[in-house]
Amino acid sequence: MDLKGICVLSVILVVALTMTEGKTPPTKCQCKIAPRERKNCGPPGISAADCRKAGCCFNASVPGVPWCFTAKPKKVKKVCPADPRVRVNCGYPGITAKECTNRKCCFRAHPAGVPWCFYHRTVEEAC
Ligand SMILES: *[C@@H]1O[C@H](CO)[C@@H](O)[C@H](O)[C@H]1NC(C)=O
Repeated sequence: MDLKGICVLSVILVVALTMTEGKTPPTKCQCKIAPRERKNCGPPGISAADCRKAGCCFNASVPGVPWCFTAKPKKVKKVCPADPRVRVNCGYPGITAKECTNRKCCFRAHPAGVPWCFYHRTVEEAC
């Protein structure tokens, strides 16, 4: 192989490595999947650590079904934080409710001294 080929190969390798490294292991909640509905993830015999590093779930308690399987997508929902102290301003003083909802933000015209138009927060839904 020539030098250029080796160069291209190492670039591909580095990209592949950074892609797998960047994945975060799924939560327990994302791995609650009935054994028969599991979709295989990773080669047979993959270790639990490698499986989780690839962003998949590992559960070897049931024989005959994939042990390393694809996680469910994270369920998130947008909520308007109830605590006025954690509000992050999404508007300006005197903003109207309409202008605020146009910005897709939360509007609560109370209490005084905090932003009335503020950003949502995304929270993970329980399983
Ligand atoms: C593994 O899967 C089985 C069957 O779904 C479940 O009962 C068990 O709690 C799981 N174990 C872990 C550690 O998640």
